[in-house]
Amino acid sequence: MAKILEVADLSKEFTLLILGGKKIHALEGLSFEMEEGEIVGLTGKSGVGKSTLMKCIYRTYLPTAGSIFLRRQGGETLDLATAAEHDVLALRRTEMTYCSQFLHAIPRVPALEVVSEGLLSRKCSREEALREARNCLERLGLPEELWDAYPSTFSGGEQQRVNISRAILSRPRFLLVDEPTASLDLKTKNAVIDMLLELKAAGTSILLITHDEHTLNRLSDRRLNLENGRIRHAVEV
Ligand SMILES: Nc1ncnc2c1ncn2[C@@H]1O[C@H](COP(=O)(O)OP(=O)(O)OP(=O)(O)O)[C@@H](O)[C@H]1O
Ligand SMILES: [Mg+2]
Repeated sequence: MAKILEVADLSKEFTLLILGGKKIHALEGLSFEMEEGEIVGLTGKSGVGKSTLMKCIYRTYLPTAGSIFLRRQGGETLDLATAAEHDVLALRRTEMTYCSQFLHAIPRVPALEVVSEGLLSRKCSREEALREARNCLERLGLPEELWDAYPSTFSGGEQQRVNISRAILSRPRFLLVDEPTASLDLKTKNAVIDMLLELKAAGTSILLITHDEHTLNRLSDRRLNLENGRIRHAVEV
């Protein structure tokens, strides 16, 4: 199997200007690799830097030091720590999707539009995108009367289903997913897990953050445990 991701000696520190320049070392010399088609579960206690790592890979955050090599579809390698903005944007549009811990809902955009957005940007017809979005929301048990409503007023679990549906439908080659099942009941959790496994079967590589043992057991091929900003040990499952 070819490598899809290689993170080498990655560090990220935050400078808190309102606290007189105080520094927070979120990640310190972190290294790990991911194979193509793998689901890697990223664990570690709250505040240890899991979301920060994911945001560095998606390039929401610029790392302080280190490299993040991503092998693209055509085989070319891009270092996300230094890549040009337009290369990062192109990658997000075609190959890499990030599903954040919380939905950042744009006011007055209906749920169906939010969910189909990822598919539309992948050159799918509007009709086909809406059909797939309905199918996805139905599988995740979001009541039909909410499909045309605005997710900004939804409950935590309803927002989470909109968020994960959008990410799944974009069918990325590489998916970053932060706590996709945290506020869901077991039945809905399993529906999300089944859909992520379908993505994996279609070839998607997934980096998954979760505190949920059931989700980890069903999904991850391998676990990485983050401690003090570094990978402490890997657990094979
Ligand atoms: N934008 C930011 N500015 C300043 N500090 C930040 C920023 N983002 C994260 N941090 C700090 O970095 C550390 C790691 O945060 P992070 O959100 O990565 O933790 P986490 O492992 O995802 O936690 P959780 O399991 O609670 O989601 C925390 O101490 C946090 O306060
Ligand atoms: Mg987090």
